[in-house]
Formats: sequence, structure tokens, C-alpha cells
Amino acid sequence: MAAAAVGRGRRSGGMGMAQALLVVVVVLAAAAALPASLAVTSPYVRPPPRATLSLLQDADGQTPQQVHVSMAGQDKMRVSWITAGDAPATVEYGTAPGHYTRSATGTTATYSYLLYRSGNIHDAVVGPLRPATTYYYRCSGSAAREFSFRTPPATLPFRFVVAGDLGQTGWTNSTLEHVAAADYDALLLPGDLSYADFVQSRWDSFGRLVEPLASARPWMVTEGNHEVEKLPLLEPTPFKAYNARWRMPYDVSGAGAGAAVPPPSGDNLYYSFDVAGGAVHVVMLGSYTDYGAGSAQLAWLQRDLAAVDRGRAAFVVALVHAPWYNSNEAHQGEGDAMRAAMEELLYGARVDAVFAGHVHAYERFARVYGGKEDPCGPVHVTVGDGGNREGLAGKFVHPQPAISAFREASFGHGRLEVVNATHALWTWHRNDDDEPVVADQVLITSLAANPACNNRTNHKM
Ligand SMILES: [Fe+2]
Repeated sequence: MAAAAVGRGRRSGGMGMAQALLVVVVVLAAAAALPASLAVTSPYVRPPPRATLSLLQDADGQTPQQVHVSMAGQDKMRVSWITAGDAPATVEYGTAPGHYTRSATGTTATYSYLLYRSGNIHDAVVGPLRPATTYYYRCSGSAAREFSFRTPPATLPFRFVVAGDLGQTGWTNSTLEHVAAADYDALLLPGDLSYADFVQSRWDSFGRLVEPLASARPWMVTEGNHEVEKLPLLEPTPFKAYNARWRMPYDVSGAGAGAAVPPPSGDNLYYSFDVAGGAVHVVMLGSYTDYGAGSAQLAWLQRDLAAVDRGRAAFVVALVHAPWYNSNEAHQGEGDAMRAAMEELLYGARVDAVFAGHVHAYERFARVYGGKEDPCGPVHVTVGDGGNREGLAGKFVHPQPAISAFREASFGHGRLEVVNATHALWTWHRNDDDEPVVADQVLITSLAANPACNNRTNHKM
């Protein structure tokens, strides 16, 4: 705006350079005087959604494909992969390329869905492993493809990528390229992975699309509505493909060697895990399975959060699919029932941040609880903008609520770098016409380190 004012002045001759500079100074001074908490709706206008990619070509029957890894306890990783034909569920691994000193054997399963029959879905848990170490591995004894992953570090700092509602379009590709362009330790996905939407071969193409990244760093996911894939009478079991293909550590205790160890959830649709030696506790909640009073998920969440030692866990973060706070016109109110069931629990445990997907836009809220700004509530962030085929949710509610700090309908991904026991840096990276741009950032301080929020008598556990 200031530059335009200078340009017009030159053309018309009506404003001298000194006056133009004065305008610039006044505008900048006015901007600097604005309160930091002013709610902002970004004016950025996005290009349209991109076409779904074609990734439907199968590999040979014995060749591992769709390889991805996930954390399975403090020092173990689960390797998951698919072969079209029969093959052993073995993973051979070691710290040098082509030199596999250890091996593990897991299990194999298949599923059918309407007329589709899956390949052989294998998984095997490898470890114990050293932290922050690169391991080379091959699956099903196949010499055709060698993969490598790096184990997460056992201490802070720890770098998460958070990307929701990925899908498999050209914009997904753009998001994945940007994710790959900067290193990270683990990816968190708050639901809506493949957008297969009943066409099961799309789960396979999604597995191939994300393999370069998901075979190299742990990808920790929770389910969205697109994972349900329930068809009345024909396919009555929900999450058939998701549970078969994306097995998470629901049967592994979330905490490590701490005194209080929460029990495993027992359900792939919600679970928790620790990273950085317990400095960060991550709770992956299920928005599309029971969460209300009397539900197994709610009872597990109570036990899980009660067992978190905030003297050790500097940060506690939670992921859901449908956001609990949302000022986009899309999916208004869809997270309200879950919020009503669980918000007090999270608040009592002083959860530092809640990340959501579902709404195909970015939005960051202030610390909130009970619909109001609260210094001891979590920062809520919607980052459902990975690049899916449904496009962006461009209509926001007006006026922007005071608790909404920044919102923009663009594709992108987020990064949470837990720097130390007191600070984490959150950044949101917009896919700005194929170039990543940091469009929003905020420093999040640990509520465990905030004496005003750390009075145990205030906790509503
Ligand atoms: Fe969704």
C-alpha cells in the first residue's frame, strides 16, 4: 500500500518525495501500533484444486510397495508394506546399506471390499533401535528395493510436521515436496489420508505416493471421516482399509520408562505415544468412533492423561479430525459434541495444543477453553489443507471471532519444533504456487512451565 502511494505521487507530481516518505512512515507507525492479538483474515486468493494423480500401476508380485514406518514404543519401529503376491513378513535391517545384521518377522493380512481384494499387507516391529540413527532395511527378502529410516531423537529438540487431509492430487504432491524440502523427525496426520472414498485401489496409489517420505520417517496418523468407508449391508465394518493398512501403536504403552505408564488404548482409532524421552506426549484422538460418556475412548483418555507426568512431559499435544474451534463456514459445529465430551479433560491436563484437519483451510486460534480465550487452554490449530481433491474451504464466518488469530484458505502444512522444555515454535507453510512460504508462526510456551497454570488444585481431572 505504501509503495503504491509513492508511485502515484511520482506520476501525478502532486506529492513530493518528502511527503511520500512521510506517508510511508505514518503507515508503518500505525501498523506497529496495532495490537498483536488483532484477528486477521488473510486476503490470499488460491488457485483452484489440482487433478487427482494417476498412480495406479502395480509393482511386481514379490516387490514391496507402499512402505511406511511408525513408532511402536520408545525404541522400536513398525514397518508396514504390501506385496501383490505371497511373500514373507520379514524385515532385514542394519546401520549400513546392504548390510543387514538383524531381522524381524511380523504378520500378514488381507482384506476384501466389495469386488476388491487387497494385496498381502505385512507389518513387522524392528528394534530395539538406537535413537537418531539411520537404519537401512529391505522387506520380504526383496533385493529389488532398499529403504532407510531415521529413528527419532531421544532428547529435545524434536521436529514434527503436521499435515491433514492429504489426498493424492497435484497439490498433495506440492505439499509433500515442501515437507521433504526440510528435515523433520516425525509426521502427524490428523485424519483423511487417501480420499479413496470406497475405491480401494486409491488406497494403493496413496501408499505409493507417500512411500518416499513415509518409509523414511515415522508417520503417525489418526482417522478422519474419509477413512470410515462403511456401506450399509454391503460393507458394514467401518475403517476396514484404514485399520488394515495404517496400523498404529494402540497396543503399545504411550509412555516410556516413567513411573506412571498409561495403558494401551486397545483400539487403532485412538492411541498415544511419547517422543524425546517423554518430553513430548502426543494424544491421537478418534473423531469417528465413540467419545462420549461411558465410551472406551473417553475412559482411556482419562487414564492416559492422568498418567502423564508434567514434570517430564514438557509438552502435551492432541490431534483430532473435526476441529473443536472453527470459524470457517465449512463443517461448522461438527466438532462440538467431541469438544463437549473431552475439552475439560484436556484443559485439566494442561494440553498445550490441539491440531485438527477436516476443514480445508488453515486457522489458528488463541489459547481457548469453553469458547473463550484462556491463558491455560490449548492453542487450537486447523491444518486440513494438505491438498485433497475436494479443494479449499474458502468461506469464513464474518466477523472473524476475537479468539481466531489467523485464518487463510490455502494448501500447506505445519511444523511444530519443540525447541526445549519451555518453548515450541509453530509455523504454517503455505504452498504459494509451488514455493513454500511461512505465512503464520507463533511461539508456544509450555503450560507445565507456567506457574499460573500449574497449580494442581486447579486441575479438573
Ligand atoms: Fe474430513
